Amino acid sequence: MLPEEFLYQLKQSNPITEIMGSYVHLMRAGSLMKCLCPFHSEKSASCTVYPHNNSFYCFGCHAGGDVITFIMQIEGLDYISAVRMLAERAGLQMPQEEQDNGEAKMRLRILELNRAAANYYYKQLTGADKRGLQYLKERSLQPEIIRKYGLGFAGEQWDGLYKAMTALGYTDQELITANLCSRSSRNNTLYDRFRNRVIFPILDLRGSVIAFGGRTIEKDGTPKYLNSSDTPVFHKGRNLFSMNFAKKSQSKRIILAEGYMDVIAIHQAGFENVVASLGTALTPEQCRLIRQYAEEVVISYDSDAAGQNATVKAINLLRAAGIRPYILRMHDAKDPDEYIKKFGAAYFRRLLEESGDAMTYELDRCKGSTDTEGDTITALHKAVSVLAGIENELDREVYLSKVAKEYSIQTEILKAQVNQEIRKKQASRKKQEWRSVTQSAVLRDPVNPAADHYPKEAKAEEQILCYLFRQPDALETVMQQISPEDFPTDLHRRIFEHLAKRLKEGYSFSFSLFSDSFTPAEMGRIIGIQAKYDSIDFSEQSIADCLRILKQKQINVLSASDMNDTDFSAMFEELRRRKN
Ligand code: CTP
Ligand code: MN
Repeated sequence: MLPEEFLYQLKQSNPITEIMGSYVHLMRAGSLMKCLCPFHSEKSASCTVYPHNNSFYCFGCHAGGDVITFIMQIEGLDYISAVRMLAERAGLQMPQEEQDNGEAKMRLRILELNRAAANYYYKQLTGADKRGLQYLKERSLQPEIIRKYGLGFAGEQWDGLYKAMTALGYTDQELITANLCSRSSRNNTLYDRFRNRVIFPILDLRGSVIAFGGRTIEKDGTPKYLNSSDTPVFHKGRNLFSMNFAKKSQSKRIILAEGYMDVIAIHQAGFENVVASLGTALTPEQCRLIRQYAEEVVISYDSDAAGQNATVKAINLLRAAGIRPYILRMHDAKDPDEYIKKFGAAYFRRLLEESGDAMTYELDRCKGSTDTEGDTITALHKAVSVLAGIENELDREVYLSKVAKEYSIQTEILKAQVNQEIRKKQASRKKQEWRSVTQSAVLRDPVNPAADHYPKEAKAEEQILCYLFRQPDALETVMQQISPEDFPTDLHRRIFEHLAKRLKEGYSFSFSLFSDSFTPAEMGRIIGIQAKYDSIDFSEQSIADCLRILKQKQINVLSASDMNDTDFSAMFEELRRRKN
């Protein structure tokens, strides 16, 4: 457990509204805030943020917790990594013992190794074998940009990097963990993964080298690009190539390209606000990362069919993250790198300036050929579907009249079609929501299974816990009347025990007391308990009733002398379960 003082500071400097606000759009609702839940798909905001105790709870999917649980869930991190991320964000030093732990040490070591490897590759570029430098020159990269990106070269040798790094004291295991070397199954020795490739180091936002990409310099060499797979310091899909530079550009617009070379070419042409999604399709995490720095994205993917399909997917992901997408349209070149080489930076700037909003792009894509009436009708049907997807009524109206004009049909007729489509979509969404509700109703409580057998007691437990959350001082009085064994459901008993233990250790109450010992799903439940009774004031009488329900349960089980066999085995089972 981290020191209370530290956790207190961590939470003070990371208010939940600020943290959640950088991932979702928060709306004020009285003294609370609401948002569309980032953990399940929904159209009306059921995720509630409680600024006064720094917690959140979704009434739809029951996700909930404190700011640490939120980061664990949204970033897919374990407890300590989430704390570390929040600490770094707030510029807080992690407590010493955590810095010394094995995993953190290993991560630091891998980062050092990556830095040393990047240096090695960079030096190789100007070594005896000039093929790498020659290749980059042919691709029109200037020395300054090569230096800025720290580009490098891995030559012919099978063990060039291996020898250089082991000479610096790095172990075989570290080289494998960093994904820089592989073990040969033939003679069990290590060999370099990157050979005959120019090297693109991938940096995180703090400038640490977290991974590498390598492009073959051989014509038709395969694979064309080789990338680090996931390592303890690198998770594909959570980082963006060149984000370390783009974030400094202070532009509210980010240019999103497909490849390393596109990014570097665009950067060299004078646009530093450019990133790429690193050999994978764009992910929601990457969109959220962009959202922390920019409001708009110009998608500048390849002009081929694959690039255009990826564009449509990216549009949806960006919108879901609250970013306004624009689309750069390019002719006579397959990608931005080629375009800039052919036509120059000034023309590329014009493409950027002319890039239209994504809606226009999507409507244009509906067109296809409009040679025959049949084609026009197909195109119109597609356009109706796109228009029906526009949430904002005013926006919809604007595009609707534009389409009507374009196809020379009456706005009213088009509007009727679109409204019908909207109703259809709503109906199918309702059906889906209903299905998921009824499904979860028949599902038993997976987080606290015993609650199904003890519905009355479980409710009493919840109220006692909620009462204690609000009035931790009452713990002593409550403890005089019941003990953890009186709680028949596992989860509630664990919460009670944990709370009692922490309060006795002198911690003051906060939901962070729980986040190191309970899973995110359990955290959701803990916050859910407080949310459920939010508007209820507990009288002393009602708490006494709850305590009696639990006590009676206990008496029933223990004092039953005239039990039949079934009751007896039920009690036996109960006692066995409690012992475990
Ligand atoms: N990519 C990859 N692995 C491959 C091919 C591509 O990871 N085998 C990723 C790389 O990040 C690459 C991007 O997808 O930069 C785009 O691929 P592609 O369009 O094929 O490459 P270009 O960037 O055009 O590469 P080049 O100009 O060097 O041919
Ligand atoms: Mn290219």
